[in-house]
Amino acid sequence: MTLGIIGGTGALDLLEPGETRAIDTTFGPPSSVLTRYRVGETSGWFLARHGQPHVIPPHRVNYRANIDALRQAGVTGIVAINAVGGIDPALPAGALVVPDQLIDYTWGRTQSFSDSADDELMHIEFADPFAGPTRDRLIAAADRAGVPLFPGGCIAVTQGPRLETAAEIRRLAADGNTLVGMTTMPEAALAREAGIDYASLCVVANLAAGISNEPITMEDIARTLSLAMGQVRQVLENFAL
Ligand code: HPA
Repeated sequence: MTLGIIGGTGALDLLEPGETRAIDTTFGPPSSVLTRYRVGETSGWFLARHGQPHVIPPHRVNYRANIDALRQAGVTGIVAINAVGGIDPALPAGALVVPDQLIDYTWGRTQSFSDSADDELMHIEFADPFAGPTRDRLIAAADRAGVPLFPGGCIAVTQGPRLETAAEIRRLAADGNTLVGMTTMPEAALAREAGIDYASLCVVANLAAGISNEPITMEDIARTLSLAMGQVRQVLENFAL
């Protein structure tokens, strides 16, 4: 298996950088070059979802180009790192979560590789959007590393780039969501279309709007993510290929 890691907010300096590979796609340029990495026994390709430096907002990411570039590099499994807000009060800032479900609230993003009559029409099976060996290995790796990780949950994928209102979070909670982020869709569905096994490793950057009385600040988010990335690295180091 060749593993691809899609790094999100706060996950740029996670890995020792190696050789880089610039890949072009018929969908346009991906967010960044692919960087070869090795952590422990794990090696593969890293892609920075928001660019390097971090400049591309969630609704402007070229998700199709990113997944196609990883496919061209021979990637067969993806660990997507997502900074998220915690809706379930049991998930504190800094918690690592591997969700098993999602609800897509995004709009206006190109959702599929089959986008015109010239493309093969695909109706992928998506009942369990993250089910597969990559997710199982992630959970086993956290266990081996002794890193606490919540193995389940439902991520609401919102359009962003603004954070949600407290009322929107109440509605997302009533819908059954335990986490909220902005980048899991259409990324997860495109990976499924491309035949790439896809798992999301979420890092709770903050409690979602209205869950705590404290205002959400970018400084607090950056501090939480930088602390939690040490644990993400430990999980990846234990991800046996
Ligand atoms: N909402 C949506 N996306 C996020 C959040 C949030 O509170 N925190 C980090 N990504």
